[in-house]
Amino acid sequence: MISGRVFIATSLDGYIARENGDIEWLISRDDPAEDHGYNSFIGSIDGIVFGRGTYEAVIKMESWFYSKPVVVLSQSLMQEDIPDHLKTKVHVLNASPSEAVRYFASKGWKNVYVDGGKVIQSFLREGLISEMTITQVPVLLGSGRPLFGPLKNDISLIHLETVAFPSGLVQSKYRVDRKTT
Ligand SMILES: NC(=O)c1ccc[n+]([C@@H]2O[C@H](COP(=O)([O-])OP(=O)(O)OC[C@H]3O[C@@H](n4cnc5c(N)ncnc54)[C@H](OP(=O)(O)O)[C@@H]3O)[C@@H](O)[C@H]2O)c1
Repeated sequence: MISGRVFIATSLDGYIARENGDIEWLISRDDPAEDHGYNSFIGSIDGIVFGRGTYEAVIKMESWFYSKPVVVLSQSLMQEDIPDHLKTKVHVLNASPSEAVRYFASKGWKNVYVDGGKVIQSFLREGLISEMTITQVPVLLGSGRPLFGPLKNDISLIHLETVAFPSGLVQSKYRVDRKTT
């Protein structure tokens, strides 16, 4: 059984990016002097999964900053589309969340970082997320790409901790209450 773990930042009104994918509102608020726990989190996971939306954003960045293997879920992207220097680090999978979990298990992954709004929503709906760390940036965007979306049933969360940073970022950690999924 894998543990799907979310570590993500949102605007106070719940968006992970503007409609056009822009995350400058987030990057500009990141204070490098503050430790928001990302390195410690990454150290605890075996692999990363996100959707084509997140892949298209990170591939535009100067360098590939993921130290762990990445699976990109997509029905439209092909493995041939991945640049040569990333082919051993990125695997494209056309799969449902439960099929993806079988792939992770075949790789021996136990703790999987689930990222990208639509992919997180689909994993939540399938009961495949066990823990979420959400860092709220004190800004209202009004519209954008949401972290959460429609659900078949409520998902009850157990609050583990909340930390308020001097920069104004507020980070809360939750465990998904298994009884509800
Ligand atoms: N604030 C943050 O911390 C944070 C973190 C991560 C990303 N982001 C930003 O969020 C944006 C991307 O998020 P997003 O919600 O638009 O996209 P996403 O979840 O990364 O990708 C969605 C796409 O993945 C494909 N897909 C394949 N299987 C899927 C499944 N089971 N469930 C859902 N999608 C699946 C679909 O594309 P196909 O048509 O190819 O199948 C779908 O359109 C980017 O702008 C990125 O920069 C922000």
